[in-house]
Amino acid sequence: MQIELTGHEALIFKKIARAAEELSMPCYLIGGFVRDKLLGRPTKDADIVCIGDGIKLAHEVAELFNPKPAVAYFKNFGTAQIKIPGLEIEFVGARKESYAPHSRKPAVETGTLEDDLNRRDFTINALAISLNKNDYGELVDAFNGVQHLHEKLIKTPLEPVTTFSDDPLRMMRAIRFATQLGFTIEKDTFNAIKKDAERIKIISQERITDELNKIMLAEKPSVGWFLLRDSGLLQIIFPGLLELQGAEYVDGIGHKDNFTHTLQVLDNMAAKTNDLWLRWAALLHDIAKPATKRFSKEEGWTFHGHEAVGARMVPKIFARLKLPQSEKMKLVQKLVALHLRPISLTKENITDSAIRRLLFDAGDDIDALMMLCEADITSKNKMKVKRYLSNFEIVRKRLIEVEEKDKIRNWQPPITGEIIMETFGLPPGRQIGIIKDAIREAILDGEIPNEYEAAYNLMIEKAAALNLKPLA
Ligand code: CTP
Repeated sequence: MQIELTGHEALIFKKIARAAEELSMPCYLIGGFVRDKLLGRPTKDADIVCIGDGIKLAHEVAELFNPKPAVAYFKNFGTAQIKIPGLEIEFVGARKESYAPHSRKPAVETGTLEDDLNRRDFTINALAISLNKNDYGELVDAFNGVQHLHEKLIKTPLEPVTTFSDDPLRMMRAIRFATQLGFTIEKDTFNAIKKDAERIKIISQERITDELNKIMLAEKPSVGWFLLRDSGLLQIIFPGLLELQGAEYVDGIGHKDNFTHTLQVLDNMAAKTNDLWLRWAALLHDIAKPATKRFSKEEGWTFHGHEAVGARMVPKIFARLKLPQSEKMKLVQKLVALHLRPISLTKENITDSAIRRLLFDAGDDIDALMMLCEADITSKNKMKVKRYLSNFEIVRKRLIEVEEKDKIRNWQPPITGEIIMETFGLPPGRQIGIIKDAIREAILDGEIPNEYEAAYNLMIEKAAALNLKPLA
């Protein structure tokens, strides 16, 4: 089969072909680039395999561009990289041994194109396009990769056990590709993952989490999490999530399966936003339900406090998964902590003060929080869904009205700690906090307007109760 290489990339590949010819070094486009080209997916990086020294080829290629791009190379791994606007190109010599680009092991024995394809993860990634003069553009498909692209199948080129033992991360990659591309994992390949799941333990958490994030960013991330569960990998990499699974019954009363519910919420969130962290918040919003689950005759099943307990679990989960301990983590934590608050505002006779408190606590993340709450509606009863959504619509309206009136969303106290210290000639201390808190509470409760003068008067009043007098 002949593949037409078109567009601005075509010129780049012609240059690579020229350089390779000059060095008499056969070379091929390979892997994800070829797969994505055939699938019509956009690509930003291209891998080139040559039968020879990849670093040498990269330098020769760089010479053909003006301006000449820098060549970043890693002697140990025998790889080199150049960046052309719109395309990152990686060069490597064909290998006989395990293809483990991120492993710390040094480069391995050189081999033929067949050797190299043999050592790749999946048939759909073991496709190559010749850049050689005699058969430029010809597809090399040793393992029916094209057919598997049509069949939407993830299958290892060799015995799955062999391919996975070369690099156990490939078990995660199989699930990630299935999720991203909407493909099925071939039965023997999947069974091998089930059998060898434990081997994922030798892979660094960073690489595992990279795959998890790719799963999270897919159109329907639940697919990946269900596959992780069914393969046995989830039990090893994130058992806490698995604890959400199952519905317990007492006296014939059950609760919903929180694993399925959580994944539905995640998909709902994914339909609303591409933001990775809002998707993590959706995945973790009910994470403390198992820890807080109780049954009583009076109340049935309850999960009291799961939002607060869950928020406290977030840093530990992020640490374990080596997700960044950053502002993003704080955002996830906040959304988990607040995810029930808008629901409590859907009742009747909600005061402005309750609305102000939510605006104050959520700040600029109020829209993300409302998005999570709406994603959290997973009832199958259409009437109920409609009712919940229209209740949230009312909450949204109230949030806008109150915000316009009271400007609480990015609230800065009208009276700062400095003003209090200056007014009473105080050093920093407990009393400042007491006065500031009193002012904040009074504003949120609507006892005084969110204005300087009213806050100043309250400050004087509260200070007097603490036996403080303003300086003359
Ligand atoms: N590869 C492999 N085993 C791995 C990682 C990569 O065999 N554990 C091979 C595959 O042929 C893959 C190629 O190296 O296509 C490039 O790897 P990578 O850039 O990680 O993945 P892509 O397939 O390009 O996909 P994506 O860019 O979506 O990660």
